[in-house]
Amino acid sequence: MAPPIQCILSLLSFLLLSTMTIPAVGRQEILGASKLVQRPTASNPWVSELTRIETNGNKAGAVAVSENSTLVATVVEREIRVYGVGSSRLLRTLRGHAGFIKALEFQPGGSKLVSSSALYGCSMEQAVRVWDLDAGAPPNISDDAAKAAVTGASPILLQHWSAEDIESANLREDIAKVILKAQITVDVRNGRAFFGELPSFEARAFSRNGSSLLYLPHRQTVAVADVDTLTERFRLTDNGHTDGVMWAETSPNGTVVATSSWDQTVRIWSMESGKLVHILRGARGQSWAGAFSPNGELVAAGAGDGMVRIWRIDTGELLHTLGNFRGWVRSLSFSPDSRHLAAGAAGGTLKVFNVESGEQELNWQTFAGELLNVQYTFGGDLFFSSTDGSIFGYRASQDSKWEFFEPGSFVGGVKISADGSKLIATVGSSVRIWKIE
Ligand SMILES: *[C@@H]1O[C@H](CO)[C@@H](O)[C@H](O)[C@H]1NC(C)=O
Ligand SMILES: *[C@@H]1O[C@H](CO)[C@@H](O)[C@H](O)[C@H]1NC(C)=O
Ligand SMILES: *[C@@H]1O[C@H](CO)[C@@H](O)[C@H](O)[C@H]1NC(C)=O
Ligand SMILES: *[C@@H]1O[C@H](CO)[C@@H](O)[C@H](O)[C@H]1NC(C)=O
Repeated sequence: MAPPIQCILSLLSFLLLSTMTIPAVGRQEILGASKLVQRPTASNPWVSELTRIETNGNKAGAVAVSENSTLVATVVEREIRVYGVGSSRLLRTLRGHAGFIKALEFQPGGSKLVSSSALYGCSMEQAVRVWDLDAGAPPNISDDAAKAAVTGASPILLQHWSAEDIESANLREDIAKVILKAQITVDVRNGRAFFGELPSFEARAFSRNGSSLLYLPHRQTVAVADVDTLTERFRLTDNGHTDGVMWAETSPNGTVVATSSWDQTVRIWSMESGKLVHILRGARGQSWAGAFSPNGELVAAGAGDGMVRIWRIDTGELLHTLGNFRGWVRSLSFSPDSRHLAAGAAGGTLKVFNVESGEQELNWQTFAGELLNVQYTFGGDLFFSSTDGSIFGYRASQDSKWEFFEPGSFVGGVKISADGSKLIATVGSSVRIWKIE
């Protein structure tokens, strides 16, 4: 059987994101020549490193911060590690995904954590797991069962193999993986996990009050699940998307869901009934990441045609088509007062627009790569990262730029704590925490 298309797509996006590291030397030369980026100096120390948590030589991936800013979670291959922000102590290690964990998010106002994984190499496991941090560690049966399986099979194998043959075949590890995969099937059957994945491009999977969760049982379909019972409320299939959904989020007051798809539309759905409310058109290319304005009135989305569009949610009216970026736009964020919209694009360009007039307020050309993780802090500072491994900050009130770059280090994820006081990122095999003054 041919590997399913979403498996190939996941593999491709994984390869793209993980190989787009630009050699440090070339980058420094170009930066020096064009002086596009102001280096952090002692005169603008509004971002300063507080803590560095090492993940012991293993590359750290996605990162999440709890709403109360006390916990940070990161991914190291198939494990989730939860650390105390203040103490830097490893508090929990969560195992149970057979595939690589791609996304991670704390439940707002609750004690749960959601994660989703995909198994590259295409013996598909796409699973969404909800962990309860107040509950004890889930039993670790795969290792014990694998050990018993090897012991049980040994008398038969020894008729043909030597003990060294058995040792070298790595049976225990492989059997443990098979059992981990089967564990997902068992957990789905018993209502403890879902097959599928979380929406991508930094979408919030949880609603703002933490009571519901969005996930994709199939590439083109978003489902709304109740977090307490882990049951599906409905699927958004009434006049549904006709191509892959990239981003989906619940509106700030929880009344609608917006979904952005490769079928060139953004759709608005009722959170009460699951029925389609509006189809937002205009994109002349695949639609990627979206964002809600914090006041809940607008939704914006970036497209493959290099444009950002802003629509009214209540009427579905297209208000602005902005940008003329050189590449696709896959990261957006509104300022906390809903008056500015920042967009990061391929080709290393970040632009900020005035939401009312549509005027361009900032055009920041960085070295290259794609700009992702665009996010405003609660206090109005703007942060984003580049696929070349930089993290950038901008404080509009002081027109002050900040940049972090460590040659050769991969930036796995970037998050701002809800109170706006900390910037948290995974860099190489560490979690870095900076203080925002
Ligand atoms: C902070 O949030 C986490 C998870 O969201 C929760 O487990 C923890 O109890 C909270 N801590 C405090 C002090 O409220
Ligand atoms: C659980 O299993 C993993 C790998 O299969 C192993 O490394 C770990 O030590 C086991 N024990 C616990 C308590 O997690
Ligand atoms: C969360 O918000 C939804 C939608 O506004 C509402 O129906 C639900 O009752 C809220 N749940 C809690 C626990 O506040
Ligand atoms: C939710 O927000 C939308 C957009 O601002 C508004 O039209 C709607 O009336 C709000 N609903 C509730 C229940 O607050």
